[in-house]
Amino acid sequence: MKAIYIRRYGNNQVVEYGERPKSQPGNGQLLVQVHAAGVNPVDFKIRDGKAKLIMPGALPLVLGNELSGVVVQTGAGVSRFKVGDAVFARMDIQKIGAFAEYAVVDEGDAAFKPANLSHVQAAAVPLAALTAWQALFEKADLKAGHTVLIHAGSGGVGTLAIQLAKSVGAVVATTVGARNVDLVRSLGADIVIDYARARFEDCVRDCDVILDTQGGAIQQRSFSLLKRGGTLVTINGMPDRAFAQRFKLNPLLGWMFHLANSKPRRLAQAAGGRYEYLFMHPSGEQLTQIARLLESGAVKPVIDRVFPLAQTAEALAYSGTGRATGKVVIEVRPAA
Ligand SMILES: NC(=O)c1ccc[n+]([C@@H]2O[C@H](COP(=O)([O-])OP(=O)(O)OC[C@H]3O[C@@H](n4cnc5c(N)ncnc54)[C@H](OP(=O)(O)O)[C@@H]3O)[C@@H](O)[C@H]2O)c1
Repeated sequence: MKAIYIRRYGNNQVVEYGERPKSQPGNGQLLVQVHAAGVNPVDFKIRDGKAKLIMPGALPLVLGNELSGVVVQTGAGVSRFKVGDAVFARMDIQKIGAFAEYAVVDEGDAAFKPANLSHVQAAAVPLAALTAWQALFEKADLKAGHTVLIHAGSGGVGTLAIQLAKSVGAVVATTVGARNVDLVRSLGADIVIDYARARFEDCVRDCDVILDTQGGAIQQRSFSLLKRGGTLVTINGMPDRAFAQRFKLNPLLGWMFHLANSKPRRLAQAAGGRYEYLFMHPSGEQLTQIARLLESGAVKPVIDRVFPLAQTAEALAYSGTGRATGKVVIEVRPAA
């Protein structure tokens, strides 16, 4: 099968387009004919070797973390899906390979593709939407009437986070560049902060939840906006001990993560709130709930650019600029 893969870590020069063997689905797994695959910052981080701590011995590696496609074979014990079903999924990070004509997906990570979405649209959803869902509803407990500040509302995660927050009746504040002000308003944002013209500290306060997609100074400045009892969830900070445990890393490393997080923990405490690090996880169950919101029209994917499989290196470079509006998608099998 045709696939995008690496044999060593590095920049886009190491990204190859060529033939790779098609895997067979094991127990509880689906073989999916990939129609489209979403691009995420984690893809170029994996290509660079920044994730090798949690992906030991992965090379050679077919890249790509999320997909939409059709089940062509099922492994033993599969009960929810059958051949011919259209599915979408964020794959387990230790079993990736969506930038290919075929990919093996754990049944528990997949959900039925919303019928009203094309494969390109569906492939833009799983990783970013699950990240937003887990940040807002698992790590924080976002509810109707709460105020949430979402940094980078125009990004892959941000565009979906705004809509998920609105779907539960939260008041949404978000930071964006001038060119994306109208977009985030159309997604439902109530308070839109042009980050080049205003300091977000001057535009919003008493936040029940803050979704930090940026880390660094933006994260540090955000703690002062937390309401007593509020939660700042970062998806761009130093991992925590739970991350080390989940990936069975050396416990010493877990302690180092814990120590490195003492400053944000202190800042959260000073504000009377909580600090949480999220490294998202696949979940077919949560994706099924997100699929309902997509089917009802409450949530819509925002797609910036679509590339063919052979041009995945260009797609990674484009995503790597950090300037995409919504998602970048690879169309693996163009619609007939
Ligand atoms: N921990 C996890 O589980 C997890 C999961 C998903 C993503 N992430 C991480 O979260 C980050 C965001 O992911 P993503 O997929 O949303 O990225 P993305 O789509 O590449 O984000 C690009 C967007 O961010 C906006 N942006 C950049 N700097 C900004 C700033 N200072 N203020 C406001 N907006 C800004 C850009 O708008 P302008 O061009 O107008 O600046 C652009 O629209 C990445 O670092 C990613 O690796 C982590």
